[in-house]
Amino acid sequence: MCRLKFRKMFMLMFIVTSCVVCSTFMIITLFLSPSIISIILTIVIIATLVGFISTYILKKELNRDIPSNSNSNNIIDENVIVSESDLKGNITEASEAFCQISGYAKDELIGKPHNILRHPDMPAEAFEDLWNTIKSDKVWKGEVKNLKKDGGYYWVMATITKKYDKNNNHIGYISVRQDITNKKRFEELNDTLEHRIKLAVEDSSKKEKIIFESEKMVMLGEMIGNIAHQWRQPLTVISAGATGLLMQKEYGLLTDEVFEKACTDINDNAQYLSETIDTFKNFIKDEKKLETVILQDRINNALKIVEPNLASKYITLNNNIDYTEPINITIIIGELSQVMINIFNNAKDVLIERAIEEPIINLDIIKKDDKVIITIEDNAGGVPNDIINRIFEPYFTTKHESIGTGLGLHMSYKIMKESLNGNLYVKNTDIGAKFFIELLR
Ligand SMILES: Nc1ncnc2c1ncn2[C@@H]1O[C@H](COP(=O)(O)OP(=O)(O)OP(=O)(O)O)[C@@H](O)[C@H]1O
Ligand SMILES: [Mg+2]
Repeated sequence: MCRLKFRKMFMLMFIVTSCVVCSTFMIITLFLSPSIISIILTIVIIATLVGFISTYILKKELNRDIPSNSNSNNIIDENVIVSESDLKGNITEASEAFCQISGYAKDELIGKPHNILRHPDMPAEAFEDLWNTIKSDKVWKGEVKNLKKDGGYYWVMATITKKYDKNNNHIGYISVRQDITNKKRFEELNDTLEHRIKLAVEDSSKKEKIIFESEKMVMLGEMIGNIAHQWRQPLTVISAGATGLLMQKEYGLLTDEVFEKACTDINDNAQYLSETIDTFKNFIKDEKKLETVILQDRINNALKIVEPNLASKYITLNNNIDYTEPINITIIIGELSQVMINIFNNAKDVLIERAIEEPIINLDIIKKDDKVIITIEDNAGGVPNDIINRIFEPYFTTKHESIGTGLGLHMSYKIMKESLNGNLYVKNTDIGAKFFIELLR
């Protein structure tokens, strides 16, 4: 390479020196005896000289920009993972990049079978497909996991094709590869993450199911508790009614009127018992049947249950409801009655407990904007201030455990808020406690 350059330089210098000598000679001749021929000759020689010098400079400039062939070969060798093998699959050529990624030195690879790089994770079928493709004179392209010298691995996108000599004889194979280890690692990480997320989701849905089941059990228990609560009073009425009838008959006091009244009461209360079950069944169901009803009718329905009981305790019910103008409301039948009955029963209990001389319960309806509010007020003196904020809590009671469970107001509050889209609250008035059952019209 160096000798070639030296010879070129020598020839160039020889031509330039000859041109300089010739042109100097011609210029002297031109001065001594100027003629057309010597002028032309001088111009030709100077032009040749200028031509050589500018070609030399131009070449030098171009050589500086374009890397030599060996330079580009080096770049390919260092950056492209290439290997060649003979027909048996023994490696005959390996690029520097190939050595670097596999961890082997070039002389450790040459002559060795290609399968020293085969990773155990690669399935045999993948190589079957590779050989079938190449043998049928096609180019095989695919992702391959290779084994490093140190036991590690790397992934490549390999393109493998047959290699031919000058006479078109098939002499081996050429493989060009692209390092895709990072891409594969990222994919592996994604798969692991996906798997972990799947497991976590499965786990959480199992837990959710358990929670759901136990919540269902709690709800069922609550429902049974609520039914028992609502049944206590009508059962008492039924049993007292039946016992009363028997006694009156025994003493010969049973009139047709008393008999009919007692039977109606027993019937009303028995109907209420069955309604209670439906109400609570619907309450825990997701689907609830809304119905548009007349509010005054629903209030009367609740009164049918409580009035006999109030009357038996000599409690006066001041029903101030205006029945002339029916108010339409959309509610779940039954639920509103439960709420009213609970409040009436509480009023009855406190009036008896505090032995109020002239016990009264005032029943009113207030219409306010888009709301309609049923108010139930007693004259028992009100809820003590230290407990007024706790009376809607579950199992909060000031009564003996044989009388109260502390579920009545809690259940009523839940029905009003969660099912009837309304509200329930209490205020103490001059005479006693006033409960507000607020509904949307
Ligand atoms: N009209 C009222 N006046 C004064 N205090 C009341 C009134 N209504 C309710 N309370 C108080 O609120 C408490 C809770 O009432 P709640 O109806 O939730 O339970 P309870 O009546 O004690 O028992 P039960 O579960 O059998 O109804 C009562 O124990 C009582 O102390
Ligand atoms: Mg109660």
